[in-house]
Amino acid sequence: MCGIVGFSSRSTSAVRPLVSGLSRLEYRGYDSAGVALESTAGVRVFKQTGKVAELDKLLKRELPEEERAKYTLGIAHTRWATHGLPTVANAHPHLADGGRLALVHNGIIENYAALRDGLERRGVEFVSQTDTEVLAHLVAAFDRGDFLAAVCEALKRVEGTYGIAAISARHPGEMVVARKGSPLVIGIGEKDTVVASDVSAIVAYTRQVIYLKDGDVAMVTPDGVDIHSLDNSPVSREVQEVDWDIGAIEKGGYDHFMLKEIFEQPDALANTIRGRLDPGGGTAILSGLNLSPRELAAVRRLVIVGCGTSLHAGMVGKCLFESLADVPASPEQAAEFRYSNPIVGPDDWVIALSQSGETADTLAAVRESIRKGALVSALCNVVGSTIAREAGRGVYLHAGPEISVASTKAFTAQVTALLMTALKLGRTRRLSREAGDRLVREITGLPDLVRRVLAQSEAIARIAEKYASASDMFFIGRGILYPVALEGALKVKEVAYVHAEGYQAAELKHGPIALLSEKTPVVALLADIPGKEKTLGNVQECRARNAPVIAVATEGDETAAATDAMVVPKTCPELAPIVSAVALQLFAYHVARLRGCEIDQPRNLAKSVTVE
Ligand code: M6R
Repeated sequence: MCGIVGFSSRSTSAVRPLVSGLSRLEYRGYDSAGVALESTAGVRVFKQTGKVAELDKLLKRELPEEERAKYTLGIAHTRWATHGLPTVANAHPHLADGGRLALVHNGIIENYAALRDGLERRGVEFVSQTDTEVLAHLVAAFDRGDFLAAVCEALKRVEGTYGIAAISARHPGEMVVARKGSPLVIGIGEKDTVVASDVSAIVAYTRQVIYLKDGDVAMVTPDGVDIHSLDNSPVSREVQEVDWDIGAIEKGGYDHFMLKEIFEQPDALANTIRGRLDPGGGTAILSGLNLSPRELAAVRRLVIVGCGTSLHAGMVGKCLFESLADVPASPEQAAEFRYSNPIVGPDDWVIALSQSGETADTLAAVRESIRKGALVSALCNVVGSTIAREAGRGVYLHAGPEISVASTKAFTAQVTALLMTALKLGRTRRLSREAGDRLVREITGLPDLVRRVLAQSEAIARIAEKYASASDMFFIGRGILYPVALEGALKVKEVAYVHAEGYQAAELKHGPIALLSEKTPVVALLADIPGKEKTLGNVQECRARNAPVIAVATEGDETAAATDAMVVPKTCPELAPIVSAVALQLFAYHVARLRGCEIDQPRNLAKSVTVE
């Protein structure tokens, strides 16, 4: 949520790297953007509301090419508003020390009101409503000649979360960065050093990176990086190599990242599965879980925490754990979990699901579960992310970078990883080798099944055309397909701005059916799972109220009762959620496209939600 870029070089102008870095991070927030540039003459700031392209236009107008070379150090930010409206005044960087100090910040300073009062009493005047401006003035107040020490002193007084980068005309050539609860990565190039809240803004320059840890404060100069703890003692952090390149974060000929990521799913899932199936043993090899058969056998209950799409994957996981391993499982919305005094302990296995690995509520749930002594694992996509590191054990999805705000390939990869986890747990219990083998074979064929759904894209686009103007939609499913109904509705809401509700198929008649008419399409999940016949009955109920029904049905089994059908290949119940979800992703994408929506960056949203 919000993106930070910093650039320090001996000879290269920082302007272009900062702007293109911001464009790569725009998916993290996009209501305003700004840069601060340092030269011997001081710090200059440019800020604009709207997307990074607007900032770029401003820079083109106000900073001629010939002037740019002198700015070889700078910081930049793209914002997702928390404190204060998306205005130029509230956009980052924020200034202090009479415009000499500039600071950008991700996260939330929880005690900002008290800090602001104290600063105001000392005569500081604020120009924004943000918590970040408080931090800028606080650093300035502690600056007695040592920039890094000033940042440390300021941060010691702060409650909340931050990833920050700061420059000051009093300290030419120095950039100080720090993190607590909000990611920050430093890229070590041959000539330049790049800082960003996400490696995607770094890989254009280098694949050698240092992931800062909470409590780290670093001095970045063109000569290198010095990392310290908040009490200013040196710490050392390993330089790691990013294992993907720039191609992975470009559109590669697709109109939108969302479509590219939908189409990447066969490869993404092949990567999630690779090396993790054991056909001989009818089980999965998930070494990252680092759990012995004895520990697995001791698990009494599973709690799966996540938000949004990840929560929906967790709901599918519940069905898988209960049917394959006979272990009760409860999916929990991560924020609710944290504040509900959760009853978890050493017999419980808490699995945190998060594509980004940075979602604040999920991270808080992980911390609470660790405090209560539960066994905690994480299923994350972003390698080295906070949730993955704090959980200490888990399964990386290896789905590749997901840029579109709407999560697609992460969902199917999460369900696949959960299925392999359930298989492994099941094999320590009642699941026979034959049953395990059958699943191993099914999972191996999954990428091909998904390819067959993708081949339906044009047909799904034609169905989308019929319903793109609807203002309300319903999605119904039962059992393991109920979470897919929720996910289908979420996709349509967030990318197409259509009001959509996901329901258990049987629940519709307990109230919501009152809303059905010829204007409310109902998408019915009818892949072959136990209970399908009952859902068919619910379809009839919808048709009897004149609602058009779009079935997501198995090949050769398209129900005559439905008005239209999106066809998915025949598969086992465990994989039905995946193939059905892919069809719904395509449906949402095409509806959004036809409605002319901003598909990759829907209004009001941000990719990773690092605030509670
Ligand atoms: O990175 P995470 O998986 O923790 O993110 C959780 C949700 O914020 C995320 O899935 C969100 O619901 C997506 N925009 C859905 O497409």
